[in-house]
Amino acid sequence: MSFTRLTDSFGRPIDYLRISVTDRCNFRCIYCLPPEGFASLGRDDLLTFEEIARVAQIFLQMGGKKLRLTGGEALVRKDITKLVSKLSKLKGLKNLGLTTNGFYLKELARSLKKAGLKTINVSLDSVLPSRFAQLTGVDQFKKVWEGVEAALLCGLKTKINVVVLRGISPAEIISFGEMARDLPLEIRFIEFMPLCGSGWHPEWMLPIHGVREILKKHFSLIPMVRGAEVAEAYQIQGGQGVLGFIASMTEPFCSRCSRMRLTADGRLHPCLFSNLQFNLKEKLRGGWADHEIAYAIAHAVGQKPAGHGVLWPIQDPSQFPKIRFLGG
Ligand code: 5AD
Ligand code: SF4
Repeated sequence: MSFTRLTDSFGRPIDYLRISVTDRCNFRCIYCLPPEGFASLGRDDLLTFEEIARVAQIFLQMGGKKLRLTGGEALVRKDITKLVSKLSKLKGLKNLGLTTNGFYLKELARSLKKAGLKTINVSLDSVLPSRFAQLTGVDQFKKVWEGVEAALLCGLKTKINVVVLRGISPAEIISFGEMARDLPLEIRFIEFMPLCGSGWHPEWMLPIHGVREILKKHFSLIPMVRGAEVAEAYQIQGGQGVLGFIASMTEPFCSRCSRMRLTADGRLHPCLFSNLQFNLKEKLRGGWADHEIAYAIAHAVGQKPAGHGVLWPIQDPSQFPKIRFLGG
């Protein structure tokens, strides 16, 4: 069966679904979790692998192409490789990715690859073990780095997400550049967004262009043309990897946004910056047929806002959504 292709009310084709598989995480990144932590969802609250695969298959039948598993920390979900294996076999899938903090990656990289995972994004906000520990609450830089190496070794396409926070030094930025020069991976510098469980700290925000300027001075960067990708990307002359820049705040890419998000407890969010959400779980468990679920997805897509509407420089932080859990 196939359904109408998904396009939102602004004409944007929607083909990318990010699926959170758990709200739990073994890290405590300073910008993510409130100090008191989150009440974990109960077992019955979480969508089962069958339910996730059903939503994913319907989404793919509606023209979806890309799926990405996120969290919390995706790799703490029990039997995550079984879910990867199930999803990788779905009809119509072009790319299956997973975002992780990297802690369990060394152990899991090979089986994830075998299960059909194509790309892995590892969050790594610092190359300095002491700063890494400060930012994540976990003194395990080495273990995460071994996870990155394991991913590269088993042939997963590997990207590193660096949330740029004030306190990152030019030397550290250059070290990231050297990493992308010497290894076949993509380093993506991400602008800090006002989506913080721990509260918005405007003083932590650093516009991405400063980072780009430092790298342009040190490396010879060749712009890449990459269609739908949100990251502006460059190859490094004579190097192996890629440098990407995601300027969500200062150069928003909302007009090219193609994504929807499914929470671990089955709510569909059209946009990270909006509190709009649609409960799919009650429909999945309430006996709705596939075409009815497809209708519910299309309805949610139809409500996708034009953009996050946060103007840079940020004038009035009190207008931000209060607490948002972005997670890995
Ligand atoms: N701003 C920017 N990036 C964030 N992430 C989590 N919170 C924020 C934020 N407030 C990052 C994580 C991960 C990716 C999915 O989003 O570090 O790499
Ligand atoms: Fe965990 Fe990711 Fe949040 Fe860090 S940003 S605490 S790794 S969910």
